[in-house]
Amino acid sequence: MKNTLAIIKPDAMIKGHLDNIRKDILDNGFSIIEEKTLHLSNEQACAFYDIHQDKPFFDELVKFMTSYECHVMKLEKEDAVIEWRNLMGATDSQKADLGTIRQKYGTDISMNATHGSDSNENADKEIRFFFNG
Ligand code: CMP
Repeated sequence: MKNTLAIIKPDAMIKGHLDNIRKDILDNGFSIIEEKTLHLSNEQACAFYDIHQDKPFFDELVKFMTSYECHVMKLEKEDAVIEWRNLMGATDSQKADLGTIRQKYGTDISMNATHGSDSNENADKEIRFFFNG
């Protein structure tokens, strides 16, 4: 079994999709090992997304992620990283396949409902960022 980090982002939280997305996660065979709702500070959002700090969308990303509460989850499943990325769909909600979480609950490339780690190495780092390993 492997773990990944999932975040339900402010757009989906504001629209009340927390329970729908949790249900999709559980229905697709993941276990939610740990979870919490929190309102990210500017400092936390900058630190979490530091890999993107030189990107043109960085300021917009931090502003969005701090605009309201997020729900963070440590997920477990065989091949959790790839399985969660498949369930989320493409980063841009406009391009995400029908039935994926980002297609169902997101709007575009910045308001895309959820985040997922992109590798096992980053999953470990991101899980440690919010939980005790
Ligand atoms: P996420 O999986 O959280 O990882 C980084 C985030 O940056 C990504 O989802 C998008 O929400 C955001 N992002 C990526 N590319 C762009 C872009 N071109 N414009 C705005 N936001 C972007």
